Amino acid sequence: MDSHHTKFSDWMKLQNQHIETVLGKFLQDSKVTPEYLHQAMRYAVLGGGKRIRAALIYATGLICNSSNPNYILGIKNSLDHAAAAIELIHAYSLVHDDLPCMDNAILRRGNPALHIKFGEAIALLTGDALQALAFEILAKISIKPDLTVKALKILASSIGSVGMVGGQAIDLQSVNQELSMEELKRMYSLKTGAVFSCCITLSSLILDINKTMQSSLDNYTKSIGLAFQIVDDILDTTTNESTLGKTSGKDALKNKPTYVSLLGIKQAKCMVQKLREEAHEALIPFGKSGFRLAEIADFIVFRKY
Ligand code: IPE
Ligand code: IPE
Ligand code: MG
Ligand code: MG
Ligand code: MG
Repeated sequence: MDSHHTKFSDWMKLQNQHIETVLGKFLQDSKVTPEYLHQAMRYAVLGGGKRIRAALIYATGLICNSSNPNYILGIKNSLDHAAAAIELIHAYSLVHDDLPCMDNAILRRGNPALHIKFGEAIALLTGDALQALAFEILAKISIKPDLTVKALKILASSIGSVGMVGGQAIDLQSVNQELSMEELKRMYSLKTGAVFSCCITLSSLILDINKTMQSSLDNYTKSIGLAFQIVDDILDTTTNESTLGKTSGKDALKNKPTYVSLLGIKQAKCMVQKLREEAHEALIPFGKSGFRLAEIADFIVFRKY
């Protein structure tokens, strides 16, 4: 599915189509009872999103250069399970994030937020069910059982109270508060960075990447995770809803501390460029095999939505 000659945008398109098909198969059909819940789950997950997290998992997969076809097939299948699990978790986090009791946003991925279309109660349950499905899919990964247990633990800790959900809790508590740079960085590393890190850790586990390489990848992920959220904050203040496909201006409206509110747009943008350089540096040990990861870093930094 990859060639050095494929343009990044074309590669992303292929990855997106692929993960869309994979997700479509893992999700229950909308005719299965309870139909309304299954419709909502498909609505939350399919037909939208940049799929950056899935792309990260597949791009990390390219670091592996074994030529044994069976080995490669097993890896591809495992990467699909990991990518699907992560995209389900991400979709669940967005459904809950948009709820009136959280960010109270009404537009997501160019469509009405899930609770607008299906109601708040179903939005809660959709998130719950997507999370459960993510673990079910990851449990069916085709790697050794002890590694599967490890993968499940990694996912659980990445999204729990000292991971994504913990970050979301701090985000809510920070409304009308002033945070220091360090506190803000910590909040971002939890609410956004933890899921990005999880992508790379799961791929590393599947590919059996050694500790030294893993620590380089960790540095890469830390940089792009933080850059991703700072860009999200910048876009929230600078970009209109039709381009973003989601409710914008929410951070300032809710008086949430962000890198933009703390540093101003110009400095926030400088910071993003610095993080981009750090991400590229972290990839040096991978030589050519890290080229898609480098392109993803650029995509995160230069994206317009
Ligand atoms: C938005 O993530 C939520 C944050 C963590 C800031 P994305 O911008 O990746 O959302 P989609 O998947 O492309 O819709
Ligand atoms: C959300 O951050 C992070 C999640 C874990 C979902 P935001 O609240 O900034 O995400 P958007 O801007 O609504 O997509
Ligand atoms: Mg939020
Ligand atoms: Mg939000
Ligand atoms: Mg945002």
